[in-house]
Amino acid sequence: MTDKNLLIEIEDKIAIVTLNRPKAMNALNEITLLELQDAFISFATNNEVEVIIVTGNGEKAFVAGADIAAMQSLTALKARQFAKLGHQVMRHIEACPKPVIAAVNGFALGGGCELALGCDIRIASENACFGQPEVNLGVIPGFGGTQRLARLIGKGRAMELILTGNMIDSDEAYRIGLANKVVPLEQLLDTAKKMASVIISKGAYAVGMAKEAIRNGLELDLDRANQYEAELFGLCFTTSDQKEGMQAFLDKRPAKFTGK
Ligand code: HXC
Repeated sequence: MTDKNLLIEIEDKIAIVTLNRPKAMNALNEITLLELQDAFISFATNNEVEVIIVTGNGEKAFVAGADIAAMQSLTALKARQFAKLGHQVMRHIEACPKPVIAAVNGFALGGGCELALGCDIRIASENACFGQPEVNLGVIPGFGGTQRLARLIGKGRAMELILTGNMIDSDEAYRIGLANKVVPLEQLLDTAKKMASVIISKGAYAVGMAKEAIRNGLELDLDRANQYEAELFGLCFTTSDQKEGMQAFLDKRPAKFTGK
């Protein structure tokens, strides 16, 4: 095993990004966040990548949070900068025109839960645990957890998780909509890859537009969001994938999408 903070493999148009600090339960420090940011900037324009899977090295942790040892002696100003760096990284993940699947293989706590929240879809292994335990450390979530968790699972449930600092198991995460599905650990990566392959078999342009419509539309009021959706829907009609997709349906044959 190398001592890189991030391992990246690209195969069959799927980039697998593995957080690789197993001795610290893959905790996020500044350098790892910067590496994640660089990776997502490059995925956005890399034609060899259509879907990204984010996971953690080992069987215990996805990411157990921001690195507590590195944060302990931060000044207020540095702590604020660190939070903002995390926000920036999550924004790069969200703004990436390609779908991002979190394959949550164990503890997803604090910044780890926030990283999973920044991804588009979360698949959890049976042993996964989610939580925002920052109040146990005398702080609050700082990589967007107070905002994204409430938007995903609702204010009341987000309040409970964040104010108690309690951890929940993967079944509960599934029940409240934090995890999209739960599978045995040994099937986790294959499940994520299969989902990625299904997405890749669709027109990449339409997939990117759909992600953009959901992500940006959620930040608008419904009328403006619908207007935005209509604009993106119209844009799809500039593509050969739209012509191919609809013709293939009428011809009763599978579509051959090119992403153009
Ligand atoms: C640094 C961490 C870490 C973390 C675990 N480790 N989590 N190091 N930062 N977030 C290290 C431990 O210090 C230990 O190192 C090794 O990983 C194994 O951890 P153990 O505690 O011995 O394992 P275990 O008993 O199995 O408990 C696992 C655990 C626990 C439940 C995940 O480690 C834990 O509670 N970790 C902290 C979780 C947390 O509070 N996360 C939120 C952080 S704040 P050694 O060297 O002793 O072997 C945050 C804020 C985000 O994320 C926003 C910032 C702006």
